[in-house]
Amino acid sequence: MRRLPFITFEGSEASGKSTQAQRLAARLDRSGVPYLFTREPGGTPIGETIRELLQFASHNSGMTPETELLLFEASRSQLVREIIEPALEGGMCVIADRFFDSTTAYQGAARKLDRETIERFNLFAVGDCIPNVTFVLDVDAATANSRMQQPRRPDRMEQEPEEFYERVRQAYRELAAREPNRIVLIDGSRNAEEIESQISAIVSARFPALAMNPQSAIRHPRS
Ligand code: TMP
Repeated sequence: MRRLPFITFEGSEASGKSTQAQRLAARLDRSGVPYLFTREPGGTPIGETIRELLQFASHNSGMTPETELLLFEASRSQLVREIIEPALEGGMCVIADRFFDSTTAYQGAARKLDRETIERFNLFAVGDCIPNVTFVLDVDAATANSRMQQPRRPDRMEQEPEEFYERVRQAYRELAAREPNRIVLIDGSRNAEEIESQISAIVSARFPALAMNPQSAIRHPRS
């Protein structure tokens, strides 16, 4: 069976990655391409329980970086085997809002866990399920802060100081430089329509099976 690509979106909080992941999914939808949309942590019943524990559980404030790493990897290994691999094998394109580069950026660079350990655990969790292309939405801290929706309850990560997010951003930029064939760094400070067009053009050029009719673009409410 024809195999469609596995596409991931990465970036720090309020980078616009979730908006762009959803916009690409909507374009595939309008073009009649079969696709599956998922997110991390979560995406399975086990993963969603882990997400709650990581982000909002009342007793999670003392979580160690090592525990955090293992929980993200546990959620990921479940998602890959229960959802992503079967979808790819079934001829679907898969779009994921975050995947293993998040662990490299957040638990590796920002929490300062050993880089080689992170790489080993990432590969243990995903096996050979590696994204075909990854879009990193790059925004500076001031832009991200100005986009944060208020008021809402911040999750555990969102309570981290600005230096934490600077390390996350730097790590994504380094990853993009290290893996230029897979990772595309996108200037996330532009408006959502421009970014959507850029991503859609790259996807169409790299994966002709997904070639999307530019006319299929519709106007979206501001996000
Ligand atoms: P988000 O889906 O709203 O971006 O929230 C997920 C949070 O979890 C975000 O703060 C990034 C963080 N995260 C990690 O620290 N490591 C990971 O491996 C993943 C997938 C997410």
